[in-house]
Amino acid sequence: MRDLSYRKDFPLLNKERTIYLDNAATTQRPKCVLAAESDFYEDHNANPMRGFYPLSIEATDIYENSRRIVKQFINASSEREIIFTRNTTESINLVAYSYGLTNIHEGDEIVVSVMEHHSNMLPWQMVARRNNATIRYLFCEKDGSFTKEALDSVITEKTKLVAIMHISNVLGRMNPIEDIIRRAHEVGAVAVIDAAQSAPHAKLDVVRLDADFLAFSGHKLFGPMGIGVLYGKEKLLEEMPPFLTGGEMIESVTLEGAKWAELPHKFEAGTVNAAGAAGLAAAIEYMDSIGFDTMRKRELMLTKRAIEGIREIPHINILGSKDPLDHAGIISFSIDDVHPHDVSQILEADGIAVRAGHHCAQPLLKHLGVMSATRASLMFYNTEEEIDALIASISTVRRRLGYGD
Ligand SMILES: Cc1ncc(COP(=O)(O)O)c(C=O)c1O
Repeated sequence: MRDLSYRKDFPLLNKERTIYLDNAATTQRPKCVLAAESDFYEDHNANPMRGFYPLSIEATDIYENSRRIVKQFINASSEREIIFTRNTTESINLVAYSYGLTNIHEGDEIVVSVMEHHSNMLPWQMVARRNNATIRYLFCEKDGSFTKEALDSVITEKTKLVAIMHISNVLGRMNPIEDIIRRAHEVGAVAVIDAAQSAPHAKLDVVRLDADFLAFSGHKLFGPMGIGVLYGKEKLLEEMPPFLTGGEMIESVTLEGAKWAELPHKFEAGTVNAAGAAGLAAAIEYMDSIGFDTMRKRELMLTKRAIEGIREIPHINILGSKDPLDHAGIISFSIDDVHPHDVSQILEADGIAVRAGHHCAQPLLKHLGVMSATRASLMFYNTEEEIDALIASISTVRRRLGYGD
């Protein structure tokens, strides 16, 4: 399978500056996304929703059309359920500050998995601290799976909210969120899904999942930085107080107070990122034009090749499952005696960009017994040659640092 035709869509990939294998941090953007953003500024730029003149109306239309495209992308029931934010982090903070602080009280429990990105852990620690609630951590096995016993012991009648990521940014494993959401609902809790890593890899359907809240970032699915999405069930969003207050999120203001705007605008205070929304819509349309099945097939082929090759190298430990199907293009590993920063520097010298460190998931790494790890994360636009170069480079690391084997 050598379909390289997609690469021509990505200007940066054609500059041959680097073998880019840090896609879980941020993806590259296709030309259509860059064009959608520049088209907004070149031809339609005005402050959306503020003016009655044509440019402002066009800007509003572009922004609201992007919302429609996002709604279809995740199969939400209504555009009122789609809130544009800056990123996943802001989306989850919105839920924590607005829903969490209002609905979670002393004695209540919040269930958070140990593998969460700090973005889906620290907001819940804040809510627990402020409202005297308790966090119960859901621990995973070494391969990233959750046992029935682990789930049964933490999700109880006291649980008010369950925060869980769909795909781990360290292990690449897809969590059984349908089961976890169902268990949350059985005890009357809401489920907050961090879909930052799954949105570019799997078809999301918030109705089928029955997710209460779901968050993702544009920049991880070929869209612009600075635009993210929060999906929330309309009934929940209706009852929640605003997160940020100011312009654009009100119906009327007096010296005594204000009446909030209708959804989704109640949660979009200040001037919005309309060009970003246009770029995100273009990214979604781009993904649709290729199709998840096609992307997934290529990712899986490349992931398998990478895992099989890396596994052959002595002194390497791949974090998580041994099965490439459990990796969604993400392969984190450690090399005996070598700090991940040294690994990434050696790879960098060979022109390969990977990530080294704790990947904003320090509690998970501690749970797995490692301080930090090197992560290679690939996308459908990577090539077999790039994966082979990665494997070849990793196989030289210990030797280049003076180890005998
Ligand atoms: C699983 C997961 N959640 C949340 C985030 C935070 O995303 P952002 O920095 O776009 O807010 C990331 C980013 O790496 C992530 O991988």
